[in-house]
Amino acid sequence: MARNFMEAVENRRSIYALGRRRVADPGRIQELVSFALKHVPSPFNSQSARIVVLFGIESNKFWTIARDELRKIVPADAFAATEEKIASFDAGLGTILFFEDQAIVEGLMNKFSLYKDNFPIWSLQSNGMLEFAVWTMLEDEGLGASLQHYNPLVDEGVRKAWNFPASWKLLAEMPFGSVETPAGTKEFLPLAERMKVIGG
Ligand SMILES: Cc1cc2nc3c(=O)[nH]c(=O)nc-3n(C[C@H](O)[C@H](O)[C@H](O)COP(=O)(O)O)c2cc1C
Repeated sequence: MARNFMEAVENRRSIYALGRRRVADPGRIQELVSFALKHVPSPFNSQSARIVVLFGIESNKFWTIARDELRKIVPADAFAATEEKIASFDAGLGTILFFEDQAIVEGLMNKFSLYKDNFPIWSLQSNGMLEFAVWTMLEDEGLGASLQHYNPLVDEGVRKAWNFPASWKLLAEMPFGSVETPAGTKEFLPLAERMKVIGG
């Protein structure tokens, strides 16, 4: 990590103007993603997260699926804006797909009935931690990324294109690439409205 942890957390932003300058090579990106996948915690250490890193034309294939599915549901006069948005995600170096393996989640639900209702929620929380870790590490490497949710619209197309196990539920997509335009300023609510400190 080039910066310390707090600096990296502060600098992670949603970057929408992506390019294909090779700020980091694919091997390094793979290393970062696998590091996060290995070390991010999961309920009962179930390790239910699954990740797919799509580079180059494989990433293009994903955004073609999204574009084609959106074309079916977006009114024709609004589609140009949709297409432009998809093109901006497609303009980067790749896309990371985040899944949770429902076979693992269901296994936990059956095994530990006391926590049955919690496992699907914890699974999402754990995947969110993973998304955050990957996003922050990409930023720290000099890359830009954003978090997208074209699931479940693209689920069928994704399954057909890459034949992932049926139990892998797609939760989020993270297009990444070189930063062509940095993020703008961000507004913050007063922290006093959001946090209480008791005791100490
Ligand atoms: C759980 C979650 C879901 C999000 N979904 C989307 C999304 O579908 N599309 C998108 O463009 N941004 C999405 N975002 C990004 C937020 O809009 C963004 O993080 C927030 O506005 C703060 O901006 P920053 O990322 O630049 O700090 C999501 C963020 C989170 C944490």
